[in-house]
Amino acid sequence: MNPFEFHNPVRIVFGPGEVARVGALAAKEGTRALIVSYADVSCLGGLIDRIHAALAAAGLAYADHFAATPNPLLSQAEAGVARGRAFGADLVIGVGGGSAMDLAKLVAAGLRYPHPLARMIRFSHADDAQIPPTEALPTLMVPTLPATASEMNPTAVVTDDATLRKSYVWAPDCLYPRVAILDPTLTLSLPPFQTACGAIDAISHVVEPFVFSDAATYGNTDLQDQLQLGVIRALLANLPKVLADPGDVQLRGLMQFGATVGLNGWLTCGVQGWTPMHQMGHVLSSHFRATHGATLACMMLAWMRFFADDPRNARFRRLAREIWGTDDLTAAADRFEDYIARQGVPTRISAFGCSEKDLDALTQGVVDVSFGPDGRLASIPPVTREEVRAIYARAL
Ligand SMILES: [Fe+2]
Repeated sequence: MNPFEFHNPVRIVFGPGEVARVGALAAKEGTRALIVSYADVSCLGGLIDRIHAALAAAGLAYADHFAATPNPLLSQAEAGVARGRAFGADLVIGVGGGSAMDLAKLVAAGLRYPHPLARMIRFSHADDAQIPPTEALPTLMVPTLPATASEMNPTAVVTDDATLRKSYVWAPDCLYPRVAILDPTLTLSLPPFQTACGAIDAISHVVEPFVFSDAATYGNTDLQDQLQLGVIRALLANLPKVLADPGDVQLRGLMQFGATVGLNGWLTCGVQGWTPMHQMGHVLSSHFRATHGATLACMMLAWMRFFADDPRNARFRRLAREIWGTDDLTAAADRFEDYIARQGVPTRISAFGCSEKDLDALTQGVVDVSFGPDGRLASIPPVTREEVRAIYARAL
């Protein structure tokens, strides 16, 4: 493994019913809380009312910014900053899945950011005008959808309304939440589709560092390999169980903490890796409003098939051998596709409404945001414009 530095300061509070502590935990971080959540919070049952009551009982004032949609928009963050500024917020509470939590982070940083908010985002890897945030209000997260691990990492994903560019801000100095309450009872009523897409997203967060961390670059990665394989196996094995028994709080807790571990940085210490599948998936989400986890299902399968015979894809062959019991990546992709389809998740981008005529625009979207100064998408192997198009075509 390569040298690394790891510091994850998030206080994780895990357990059924722990959300009852939100008032007391929030009171340690601030006195005026801006609650950031979905535009339509009815999907959260009475959770917002419970949080309001808990905050009031703990002596906090609060205001709401209910704006997040799947694939949250820069304009939603700008409106949240204005709302938080008018209210005088000194704490931001994110309630919901990755989109709500990412929006909460953007608002928290935006309230301390001296530039136009768009400058915070890395909308192009090649022409990088980004000014990362260095300060943010403290955040407390109440995740309700296991998937992104936003509750325990310093990343926020956002889409620019005007250009449809979906990108991110990564700021370990200020974007880690202070507290994350992982209460699996909050996930008991998640619909099957969201449950499955969240799990596939979490699996992809571990698959990417596994397949894009080769020995030539990272040396001996056996410890990380075993940790990553364990998380992938646990999520794959337990997703069908939780879909069959959605009220099982132990299974819900396993999926929730599994997703958190999948992208909290622990599994990638010393083996950084690349995320080309996520880069390509983001463009599908921004162009077709496709669910993030479903885009990753499609991209993982297309990647396996496109590079099935490429000698540079040895790490994917290792994964296929470990997980699907075969060195044949095409056969492994067939088995994985069958598994994903049985969980109710799309496996082809045509399911999003995408067809051959869209491939050039999708490819250009990847080039605009994710291509580096070398004119390729960072990956092992690095991917050219023509290959990006061909991988999308393989996913149709
Ligand atoms: Fe993801």
